[in-house]
Amino acid sequence: MHPAFRFVARHSLFIFPGIGFLPGKLRLAGNLLLFFAAILLALPAQASHEAATEQQTAWQMVLERCVLCHYLDRPDYKFAPSLQGLFNRKSGLLMNGKPVEDQTVSHWIAEGSPNMPAFKYSLTPQQIQLIVKFLKEGNAANVPMLRNSR
Ligand code: HEC
Repeated sequence: MHPAFRFVARHSLFIFPGIGFLPGKLRLAGNLLLFFAAILLALPAQASHEAATEQQTAWQMVLERCVLCHYLDRPDYKFAPSLQGLFNRKSGLLMNGKPVEDQTVSHWIAEGSPNMPAFKYSLTPQQIQLIVKFLKEGNAANVPMLRNSR
């Protein structure tokens, strides 16, 4: 028997005291069932934790590299146009006339513009993708760190 199974079988009364009434073999089966159920229940929790971490990573990059010039939680101009609601603009267009899409925005960030640095030298394409995803889905107003960023 795999050591993990043996551990569960031996200590299950401690882990899952509720099934202590079952006879030997049934108890083992019941324990294993509960054991895997517990693992299955834990998986989505971990997935959402990873999503939260991704968002935080993105936000930290935005905080370090974008808020110097752009607001994200209000529509005003800072040194540059606000990025609030970038993907929900009525015009649906970037300043360069291209449609606001994952690809055009990540291209803008990578290549920069006359008054904005090109980030392809300091960020990987994956990091830029995370930022784009954040601009698209992230609710900047919910990020507490923003309060210190003005
Ligand atoms: C040094 C200031 C500066 C920084 C830092 C900066 N930008 Fe910009 N950005 C600008 C300016 C200025 C413009 C307007 C175009 C121009 O004049 O070059 C702009 C334009 C944009 C646009 C197009 C906006 C529109 O309305 O079409 C996007 C998208 C953008 N920036 C994203 C970012 C992101 C994301 C970051 C951080 C990774 C960032 N910028 C960092 C100055 C900056």
